[in-house]
Amino acid sequence: MDSLPCPTASARAAASIGAANTSSLKYRLLGADACVAEEEKKIRAAITATAHFLPDKVISNADLERLVDTSDEWIRSRTGISERRFLAEDEPTSTMAIAVAQELLARRGIAADDIDLIIVATITPDMIFPATACLVQHAIGASRVWAYDLSAACSGFVFAVATGAQFIESGAHRRVMVIGADKMSSILDFEDRTTCVLFGDGAGGVLLERGEDGAGMIDFELYADGAAVECLHIKGGGSLYPPSHETVDQRMHYIRQEGRTVFRFAVEKMAEVSVSLLERNGLTGADLKLFVPHQANKRIIDAAAQRMDLPSEKVMMNIDRYANTTAATIPIALAEAADQGRLERGDLVLMTGVGGGLTWGSALFRWGQ
Ligand code: UT7
Repeated sequence: MDSLPCPTASARAAASIGAANTSSLKYRLLGADACVAEEEKKIRAAITATAHFLPDKVISNADLERLVDTSDEWIRSRTGISERRFLAEDEPTSTMAIAVAQELLARRGIAADDIDLIIVATITPDMIFPATACLVQHAIGASRVWAYDLSAACSGFVFAVATGAQFIESGAHRRVMVIGADKMSSILDFEDRTTCVLFGDGAGGVLLERGEDGAGMIDFELYADGAAVECLHIKGGGSLYPPSHETVDQRMHYIRQEGRTVFRFAVEKMAEVSVSLLERNGLTGADLKLFVPHQANKRIIDAAAQRMDLPSEKVMMNIDRYANTTAATIPIALAEAADQGRLERGDLVLMTGVGGGLTWGSALFRWGQ
């Protein structure tokens, strides 16, 4: 097997431009030789399997025209969405997350007991507690794991994959399953045309293991800003507004979004954090094989791709078929890209999410499958 390009090159380049990541800091503190040795010793968390699940039921824009005052033309031109999938009403988010977990085990050819940790990113857990990750653990029969949910809305998967990677890099765990799953149809107000046309249901996930030959997570950059909570939220059903007749009457258990504000924020932050992570690793869009952005709006993705000078073949886009599946968009897109043969060992992949919190961030991987 050929060796992958040495990751220290990016650390050196980053150091020369004075970037503040840990690789460049080490370079400056330790000097070139020591830094090379450090980098070569570093354990990286590589993606060794991908999987996704989408419900069979297709909901077209025309189907939504029958529910709210909208049009196929408006939805396509403003968002790029043609259709989305909805899970059966009586099936919860865990149904999709469990299917992904089982597929990951099958594809990697390992047993549930080979897993050390399961993280599920979701804003539509089956119940407020226990964590949906615990339901996945039980369903796949993983007897020696711990499991928890992570809530960062549309940035959920990027937050979760960066979190999961820490347990591999520290040597604490050998295999971490990271899943993004959301049943958005369960929190949509089908009387609100400004939100109900935007979302769909789905799940995707990856297996993280110790990478070889430089494969694995190279760097990440993540942010949160709770000041803009009014822009994107579900107010009811938590401890602030516990469920009551009043909260239900006021339709407070549905997602609400100030579309224009979030749009402006997403256009700015998706590009900003993507460029920042590339730059501090001495890279540009030209070095990427694939950009896998959160799929909320084709116009947001196009704007970010333009800022990074990326041609369309380097940008993963499937919003037309699945709409915004929140924590699931990035792992679904990643799994589809892998299945389509668009990623080879050694390729650089950048994933970027922006969403409720507000939260945003990127993770840069050297492909390891
Ligand atoms: O993933 C989480 C993060 N979320 C996002 O990144 C989403 C960010 N926001 C967006 O993608 C866009 O803002 C939307 C797709 C939500 C809306 O697109 P827009 O171009 O920003 O439209 P707008 O909100 O400015 O609304 C334009 C018009 C309004 O009518 P008036 O006030 O100009 O008469 C809306 O009432 O479009 C109207 N409108 C609709 N018309 C037909 C809003 N929703 C619809 C609809 N069908 N479904």
